[in-house]
Amino acid sequence: MRDETGTEQPARVRLATTPLGVFGSLTAARRNVLELIPEIATHAPILSGRTGKRWHMVMEPGALRQILRDKVVDYPKSVTTKLILAPAIGDSLFVAEGEQWLWQRRAVAPVFTHRHVAALAPVMSHAAERSAERISQAVGRGADMFAEMVTATFEVISDVTFSGDGSGAFDRDAVHRAIEVYIGQTAKVSLLDILGAPAWVPRPNRLFSAGGMRDMKAMADAAIERRRADGAQPVPDLLDLLLAAEDPASGRQMTTAELRDNLLTFIVAGHETTALTLAWALYLCAFDQDVQDAARAEAQAVLGDRAAGVADLPALPLVRRIVDEALRMYPPAAFLSRTAQVADTLCGREVLPGDTVILPIYALHRHHALWDQPDRFDPARFADPKAIDRFAYLPFGDGPRICIGASFALQEAVIILATLLARFRFSRIAGVEPKPVMILTLRPEGGVWLQVERAT
Ligand code: HEM
Repeated sequence: MRDETGTEQPARVRLATTPLGVFGSLTAARRNVLELIPEIATHAPILSGRTGKRWHMVMEPGALRQILRDKVVDYPKSVTTKLILAPAIGDSLFVAEGEQWLWQRRAVAPVFTHRHVAALAPVMSHAAERSAERISQAVGRGADMFAEMVTATFEVISDVTFSGDGSGAFDRDAVHRAIEVYIGQTAKVSLLDILGAPAWVPRPNRLFSAGGMRDMKAMADAAIERRRADGAQPVPDLLDLLLAAEDPASGRQMTTAELRDNLLTFIVAGHETTALTLAWALYLCAFDQDVQDAARAEAQAVLGDRAAGVADLPALPLVRRIVDEALRMYPPAAFLSRTAQVADTLCGREVLPGDTVILPIYALHRHHALWDQPDRFDPARFADPKAIDRFAYLPFGDGPRICIGASFALQEAVIILATLLARFRFSRIAGVEPKPVMILTLRPEGGVWLQVERAT
């Protein structure tokens, strides 16, 4: 894709240029929900409108801080977000509010401390090694790196949630299929629903008739009960840590159903998002061979021919910046949404109780007032993270509801990316550019096909 100066830039979403008209266009909406975000969202601080409901799209860092941090209680997650997610993950950390959220967050926070996340790194290194083995089979031809990264990250998340389940009753593939179907189905409609979609939009309850989710929950419950009976593993995984977790304020511990909903939340929230980050990072490396060469040199110098581990992370700053820049250009959570509870003012605009507030992270990360040449791939932007306005860069959200798995995801992404770059060269295949499409997460339609060669 070319920018206004004719320079080729990495693939991007073609944002709508007729801001109001487009919301009426269901054809456009069905094609690519993200196209509902108008181009001017990358220039304006706030946009408001009415499509069934009153809505505001907020792109101004000060107002975003207000929504996510200073007035977090006035802006709970939108009703629609909950409607879509609750059937799969119950009233777990991701969707709960108030007291129900607070005690779970307090109980779960220690599970994701640096020490625990670092201890899970061998699982990530192992998955990186296995991914490299699979990719070796594709040397000399094209491979869909999105599909490959989904396999790798699912392996990590299922290993750190139900790893010790040797009974075979926890069917990894069945769980994976149920989650894929669920995300694919529900997510198609999410931004439309949020904007007050018409009646043809399928409602979540209809999406669950297949029973896949029900079976998956039963399987997870059985695995949790078995672990309760068998006790923790030598290196505790997320299930062991959650079983032991308690709210430091009340001493409350999770029931089996609460544990299951939270573990499924980790699987749903954690694996595809990390796979997307990696797939887009590989695409960007294919786009800019100079950056790829520099990152490979860095990775090879540190790793030789072994997979990356947690101790290598400080020596891989460029690989980390590529991950940061991939999260800027292709934020997996491309928009967040909230429902205003009280009257407020955002960027001088009146907000009424019940209004939908959309945080279009994709547009924020490509905003012309906040980023120099926003559509350009330039990992050097992150050379000095302090130079970046915290609320201009929100791949993990912010405030009390910031992603609890952020450091887990970043650690995993750097370990896998460094391992793969040290061993392979990735390049674009003429005529097969990925097409970013918004389906709950920002996904590449048709995958991310790259030519794979062995690195020298
Ligand atoms: C690159 C990968 C990831 C991205 C981009 C990402 C993004 C996000 C974002 C934007 C939010 C905030 C949503 C909002 O405020 O509406 C969030 C919340 C959350 N994420 Fe992640 N996430 C990632 C990986 C993970 C992983 C690996 C896990 C768990 C293992 C995880 C678990 C959660 C949970 C439980 C929440 C809800 C936290 C709360 O509300 O207290 N995420 N994530």
